[in-house]
Amino acid sequence: MTKMNTDNRIFSEINQILDDSPRLAYVRSFGCQLNVSDGEKIKGMLKKLGYGFTEDETRADLIILNTCAVRESAEDRVFGIIGSMKKLKELKPSLIIGISGCMTAQSHISERIKKSYRQVDFVVGTSAIRSIPGLLLDCLKGRKFGMDIEEYDDFSESVEQVRSCSFKASVPIMFGCNNFCTYCIVPYVRGRERSRRQEDIVAEVEQLAAEGCKEIMLLGQNVNSYGNDLGEKNAFPRLLRRLNGIDGDFTIRFMSSHPKDASKELIDAIFDCEKVAKHLHLPLQSGDNGVLERMNRRYTVEKYLETVDGIRRRDPDFSLTTDIIVGFPNETEGEFQGTLDVIERVKFDNIYPFIYSRRSGTKAAEIQDETRDEEKSARMRRLLDLQHSISAESYKRFIGRRMRVLAEDVSKKRKGYIAGKSNEFIIVEFEGDTSLIGQFVDVEIIDAMNWAVIGKII
Ligand code: SAH
Ligand code: SF4
Ligand code: F3S
Repeated sequence: MTKMNTDNRIFSEINQILDDSPRLAYVRSFGCQLNVSDGEKIKGMLKKLGYGFTEDETRADLIILNTCAVRESAEDRVFGIIGSMKKLKELKPSLIIGISGCMTAQSHISERIKKSYRQVDFVVGTSAIRSIPGLLLDCLKGRKFGMDIEEYDDFSESVEQVRSCSFKASVPIMFGCNNFCTYCIVPYVRGRERSRRQEDIVAEVEQLAAEGCKEIMLLGQNVNSYGNDLGEKNAFPRLLRRLNGIDGDFTIRFMSSHPKDASKELIDAIFDCEKVAKHLHLPLQSGDNGVLERMNRRYTVEKYLETVDGIRRRDPDFSLTTDIIVGFPNETEGEFQGTLDVIERVKFDNIYPFIYSRRSGTKAAEIQDETRDEEKSARMRRLLDLQHSISAESYKRFIGRRMRVLAEDVSKKRKGYIAGKSNEFIIVEFEGDTSLIGQFVDVEIIDAMNWAVIGKII
């Protein structure tokens, strides 16, 4: 039977069993935006099965937790939530609970879920999302536990994403990662790099632009290697140029960019394409060459700074953000100081720092780590203090300037204010009413803090 026929059979069987019983699903994604975008695909599939969606898990007939494995704290959080769902299941025995996402790709985790969390009905792997309807059907027929963590190689190209936002959309351009940074679990749970076809990406962006979408975020673990698996060189800068030519008033962003592959062609494309945001997220991880080598990052501090200087020569105000890992195994005080030095020198607009988390199965997990946890926490505080003072100082450069801001939501901190992001990816808050949400607004910056700037509508 073809896959299409099997799908149709499953869909009609589910419809028969559920008949007119309620179909409300609660889908919660953790982790990076690629995972969030998978969650949107899961919703797309459930929508086809007749499910509506709720943000309130107590009302749900089906719960899917789409998990992240990048740090132990992320996993602990999910285990806590799964644990608390035992009560929900007792109150509503017909409730079906499924676990998807990156945690499921580690067999010790799937086994632990199967053994110790009887409230879970099925586990589905990151590249097996399309098996969800089948697993669901088995549950409805009374099967106790289902699991599909096979690796399939289709990208669910035909599955529509149910996006939670009408004016911002993320578009995955590739899946997986080939880099094997020694601390990172992603290549193990997401497999090798697979790029989507340029035609499919272009068609999706054209459609989003035609629907009035204002911001398109292209996603991949390392977008700079987009197309390598298809044998194409410099495919990402070319993709940016092609997407820039699509009609419509929208901004193009992308994440993440590996510093070892941040080429001149990429930087040229950012500057040449008016729709591409003047902001680059360039994860540094560490400011010490020895640590970078132990992390298998394959660039040096000097090469990183060369890229930054090249960008800043063309635009001294260009916005840069980064990820930092504090306390990589046996990181010394001197090595940590190297990170502080680079942060001081580059003056990032924002940093996303993480304390190193041991991920079993990775290379770094084998290193006997002598650095104490208290020392790591103290370094984290020093790093955050430094960045706060840098952001406070560097955001002042925007005072008196005009910024074009995509209004995203009401401000959580100030009544009557709207919060949005500027082209440079800076949070901007300004007085205004909710009708502006989803639109570009021109503001003049009148004040700066260490986490945002304040504007006034022009
Ligand atoms: N592919 C992206 C990163 C994905 S993970 C890139 O290379 O930029 C997002 C961030 O999580 C990483 O940049 C890193 O800073 C952090 N991270 C990954 N594994 C980690 C670990 N084991 N412990 C702490 N932080 C980690
Ligand atoms: Fe992880 Fe490195 Fe791949 Fe990023 S590039 S996902 S940090 S292995
Ligand atoms: Fe987490 Fe998986 Fe993303 S491990 S960071 S959800 S790729």
